[in-house]
Amino acid sequence: MNHVILIGFMGCGKSSVGKALADALHEPFVDTDVLIEEQEGRKISDIFRESGEEYFRELETLVLRQLLRSEERQIIAVGGGLPVRPVNQKYLKQLGTVVYLMAQPDTLAARLQGDDTRPMLQGGELKRRIRELMDAREEIYDGLADVRVVTDGKDFAEIVKEIARYA
Ligand code: S3P
Repeated sequence: MNHVILIGFMGCGKSSVGKALADALHEPFVDTDVLIEEQEGRKISDIFRESGEEYFRELETLVLRQLLRSEERQIIAVGGGLPVRPVNQKYLKQLGTVVYLMAQPDTLAARLQGDDTRPMLQGGELKRRIRELMDAREEIYDGLADVRVVTDGKDFAEIVKEIARYA
């Protein structure tokens, strides 16, 4: 199935761009974090606190398996850490066209300042935490990408237009 899958770091705009792209293409939009919260009946931050990161990562893999069974083409935004697991990388490639929304750490830090909903960014200095995680993930995002879109300094409409060319 040729879904469009948006990957990238927290704060790169996957959900906002995904919704706008889905509207423009008149296609449904799903966000793996929202699916997980609905299925678990609790917020991501509570899942991390009560059940731990590994449990959350397991849920991400289960959600990808569900999406692989979906027959209707969808625009899919996935959590920033989802592409890290090798089995998820395989599933992402099977799902369709992978679009990597790129953003500089400074751009991300500005967008994520004051955010307390993302457990992976709690504790420690925000920019340092972003750099650490980015160092560990950048190559994975890039390796999976069929399409790469620079988002720094662009508005959603511009980004959507770029992606729509490939979608
Ligand atoms: C995470 C990113 C979050 C969410 C969870 C873990 C990560 O999604 O899945 O907090 O490890 O990068 P967004 O990328 O939509 O913020």
